[in-house]
Amino acid sequence: MKKILLADSDEANSAILELILNEFEYNVRRISSIQNCAEELASAHYDLLLFGLESNQEEGFRIIEDIRQKPEIADINLIFIIPNTEKIDVANAYRLGALDFIKRHSVPEVVLEKVRDAVAVTGKDTILVVDDEPMNLFLFTNLLGIRYNIITAGSGREALDILERESVDLLLLDLHMPDIDGFDVMRRLSAIPECDNLPIIVVTADSDFDTEAEIFQAGARDYISKPLVMQVAIQRIRRIIELSHLQKSLEDEVRKKSRELMLANTRLRQLSDQTIFALSCAIDAKDSYTNGHSRRVAMYAREISRRLGKSQEEQLDIYNVALLHDVGKIAIPESIIEKPGKLTNEEFEIIKSHTTRGYEILKTISVMPSLYIGALWHHERYDGRGYPHGKAGEDIPEIARIICVADCYDAMSSDRSYRGALPQAVVRSEIEKGMGTQFDPRFARIMLTMIDEDKDYRMRGKNSTDINRMTEIKDQ
Ligand SMILES: [Fe+2]
Repeated sequence: MKKILLADSDEANSAILELILNEFEYNVRRISSIQNCAEELASAHYDLLLFGLESNQEEGFRIIEDIRQKPEIADINLIFIIPNTEKIDVANAYRLGALDFIKRHSVPEVVLEKVRDAVAVTGKDTILVVDDEPMNLFLFTNLLGIRYNIITAGSGREALDILERESVDLLLLDLHMPDIDGFDVMRRLSAIPECDNLPIIVVTADSDFDTEAEIFQAGARDYISKPLVMQVAIQRIRRIIELSHLQKSLEDEVRKKSRELMLANTRLRQLSDQTIFALSCAIDAKDSYTNGHSRRVAMYAREISRRLGKSQEEQLDIYNVALLHDVGKIAIPESIIEKPGKLTNEEFEIIKSHTTRGYEILKTISVMPSLYIGALWHHERYDGRGYPHGKAGEDIPEIARIICVADCYDAMSSDRSYRGALPQAVVRSEIEKGMGTQFDPRFARIMLTMIDEDKDYRMRGKNSTDINRMTEIKDQ
C-alpha cells in the first residue's frame, strides 16, 4: 500500500483529501503543521508528499528547499496543494521538483488521477540537454535538476559521444548548433541501436511550418519554442517521458503475452501429440503380435519424409498421421485380428473395413483434418488396385503413399502370429518389386536406401518396441 504524507494547514480540506485517498487504499498520514514536514518524512518511508502552499508561498518553498538538501529525503515525489484564488510561482515550484498541482476543493477524480500518476514515478529519468548556448543549459539544469538526472552537451558531437556510452530517457535537442546541427544529430542517431526508441524534443526558435514538419519527419516526438516558456516546456517534457514509459510497458506486456501464448501453444501441441501417442498404444495393444507396429511405421514414415526434405513441422505431422493409420482396428474383433490361420473372405472384408472405420473415428477431429488421410488410404496401391477406393498414383495423398511403404516394410520385417520376420533380402526385393505397382517409386526408393544402410538388419520389429532404432541407424 502506497504511503502518503499530507501536510496542509487547511484542516478542512486535508480531512476530505484523507477520506478520498483512504477510500482508494492509500495509507495517509496527515499533519497540519508544514514546519514538521521534514522531520516526519525522515521518520518513515513515504511514496508521496502532498504539500499545502499557504498565501505566504515563500515559507512553503523554503521548507521544500530544505527537504531537497537532505539526501535521505531529497527524492520524495511532490505535489503542491495550492489555493484556488492566488497565483503561485509555478516556475519555482517546478524547480523544486513538483510533479503536479492540486487545487484545494478539487473533485475526487482529479485528485486520484494526479496522486496515482505521482506515486507511479519511481527513480529518476535521465535527460540529455544539448545546446550550444550555456545559458540554456543552465536554465534547463536548474529547472529540471530535482526531478530528473540532467546531462548536458554543448555540441552535437559531444551529444553523440554521450549517447554512445550512456543510457538516456529523453533528448532535449537544440536545432541550430555550429558543428553538427540538430537534424544531423537525429540522422546519426539511427546508427546507434540503443537510441532506437529514444524520445526527442527539439528546442528551436524557428516557428515556420516547414521547420515544424521537418522536425517531426526527422523523428522528434515534439518541439519546444524559444524563447522558453518554462511551464509549457516542463509539461511537454513530462508528457513525452510518460508516453515513453507507457510505450515501454506496453511493449513489455506484449512480449510477456506473446511468451505466454507460445507456452500455451507448446502445451497444447504436447497434449495433442501425447494423446495421439496414447491412442496408438491402445491400437497396438489390440494385437500382441504387432505390438509397436504403429510406432515403428510412424518412425519409418517420418524418416522417409525427413529424407524428402520436409520441415520439422511436416515430419511431426506425418509421424502423428502414421501413428493413427490403423486406428480402425479398434473396431475389429480381436478374434479376427489375432487369428493365426488363413482368413475367410468374409473375415478379410471385415479386416479391410479398418480403413473406413479409422476414417469414421478421425473425421470428427476438425482441427487436424489430415489425421484421417493415413487411416483411410494407407492400403491404396499406386496402380489403383488397393482399397477402399481404388485410388491410383498422385490421386492418393502423399502422406498415405509414404505410410503405405512404411507399413508394408514393417509388416514384412516384424514377427507375426503366423511367421517370424522375413529375411532382409526378401523384404528388400518385395519393396523393389512393388515399385510403381504397390508403391510410389519415389518413396520406395528411399525405403530401399534405408534398408541398404541398415547393414545389421536392426530396423525390424521383434514383437517388442524399439523406438530408438531409427535414430541409431541415422547416427551410423
Ligand atoms: Fe492397415
